[in-house]
Amino acid sequence: RLLGCGTAKHAAEIGAFLIESLARVPSVAHISSEFRTNEPVINPNALHFAISQSGETADTLSAVKEIQLKGGQVHGVVNVVGSSIARQCARGVYIHSGPEQAVASTKAFSNMVAALAIFSIQIARSRTLGKEKGKEIINGLQQIPHLIEEYLDDQGPIMEAVEAVKDAKSVLFLGRGISAPVAKEGALKLMEVAYIPCLAYPAGEMKHGPIALLEDGSPVIFIVPNDHVKEKSLSAIHECRARGAKIILIHEEDDIEATEEADISIPVPSCSYLLTPLLTVVPTQLIAYRTALALGCDVDR
Ligand code: M6R
Repeated sequence: RLLGCGTAKHAAEIGAFLIESLARVPSVAHISSEFRTNEPVINPNALHFAISQSGETADTLSAVKEIQLKGGQVHGVVNVVGSSIARQCARGVYIHSGPEQAVASTKAFSNMVAALAIFSIQIARSRTLGKEKGKEIINGLQQIPHLIEEYLDDQGPIMEAVEAVKDAKSVLFLGRGISAPVAKEGALKLMEVAYIPCLAYPAGEMKHGPIALLEDGSPVIFIVPNDHVKEKSLSAIHECRARGAKIILIHEEDDIEATEEADISIPVPSCSYLLTPLLTVVPTQLIAYRTALALGCDVDR
């Protein structure tokens, strides 16, 4: 079980996905603020992770105490050294992202995901993951900082995306599988720094509600890496387009098929699909940042 709030919860969702996919261990992410009051059943043999940048989030701290009170152990995945959650857990890892100066948690998100990816690979290696496959994913993880730099050198049409979202009534973020939490994270960031109402859904849920909001020109930001659920995401894009939505697509650079579906296409370097959140989240952060600046918001407050 992985617990967190906001951005940390989104990292927890990706961690749960990685643990299940790689290690085949049932895994679930919880919102800390719902945890204690929902009277959870605690399995003392389960692994629990409390994920937090500040290490001071009261909801996450109270969830940690609840688990400990009921006989469970909690490992911290925390940025701030010596913080309350780190001390309460007394075990786990520091993610060493350096101080988050502004409200928006960005580099901490990346390091939470990276730490959980390393844990997933280690536990998977002790179970079903072969040595070669394990090495391949670790090598992929080591390449991520270079790939992020490569992307930052050529960020794609971020300003076109900003033009499409800055005056919108609302912005819809969609992604499937491991990209669903990235969509949530993109929406949170745009709301948090540019004050634009945003919705995020797993792409398959689009037709079960949010489609009602789409009209001519509605911006929809799709996160679509070249993975096994891409075709399903493309069909959701078709449905949005049929209603006149403006599609801003974040995809892998070698994926020509995907670009044909987009009004605005933002490519990121390719990597193993399990690591794509570390890359696809970056353009969403830039869209939030640049939109906030375009609207005259103080991104540091
Ligand atoms: O310090 P924490 O990671 O525990 O904070 C949890 C959330 O409050 C936090 O992630 C919030 O959603 C951020 N400001 C997002 O950028």
